[in-house]
Amino acid sequence: MTAVHLVERSNRSLYDSALEEHFRIRHRIYVGERRWMALERPDGREVDQFDTPEAVYLLALDKGRVVGGSRFVPTTQPHLMSDVFPELANVRGLVRRPDVYEWTRVFVVPERRGEGRPKVESLVLCALQEFGLLYGLSHITVVMETWWLPRLLALGWDVQPLGLPREIDGMQTMGAIIEVCEEALASTRRARAVEGPVLVWRGRNGQGEVVTHV
Ligand code: COA
Repeated sequence: MTAVHLVERSNRSLYDSALEEHFRIRHRIYVGERRWMALERPDGREVDQFDTPEAVYLLALDKGRVVGGSRFVPTTQPHLMSDVFPELANVRGLVRRPDVYEWTRVFVVPERRGEGRPKVESLVLCALQEFGLLYGLSHITVVMETWWLPRLLALGWDVQPLGLPREIDGMQTMGAIIEVCEEALASTRRARAVEGPVLVWRGRNGQGEVVTHV
């Protein structure tokens, strides 16, 4: 049974080994498979300047193993669109607000892609909306290849471009802002046959005991 765990500053210490596995999977996928060679590192861990203590991770775990995930960074801090690709927001402008996080590094391990309903990717996409609602976010921004746009619109999401698409390293790339709302969560569940909440938070309570909230 796959669940998507929310890993943030407060509960990170419980996820040291899962986070480590996820950095190595990111290297295998983004460098080995996608050939985004700027991310290559000799230690085989894909970690960049946005993997800060403020980063929030969604890790899809199955029997303790990482099978998918995503990263979110507050837009009030340095993030991919502000620091690397500001031109992708050249029409509506960069968004930097406490109620908006930036979404990066969505992945599913190759052996769990495209498999039956609900697939791991669907759980991660539902978890994105659940996380946004939990954090009181209004929107998520993203730097994405344009092939995502029809996929996200098909989920019933409100996705607005922030600028004109550009070719970057041979990829058609765009900046966009996505609404976080109950309706988007409900339509994603319907579109992807996800029956209910998928997000899990595990951490220590005031007595230092490990507790899990679903
Ligand atoms: N370019 C264009 N389309 C792509 C693509 C790419 N690099 N990667 C996936 N897709 C499309 C597939 O063509 C497929 O389309 P179809 O359903 O019409 O056949 C669809 O997305 C589903 O992809 P698939 O890989 O079968 O499985 P999935 O839906 O379970 O997982 C991803 C989708 C993107 C999570 C998975 O392919 C992945 O982890 N890719 C590597 C990481 C990545 O590139 N992430 C995005 C940038 S951060």
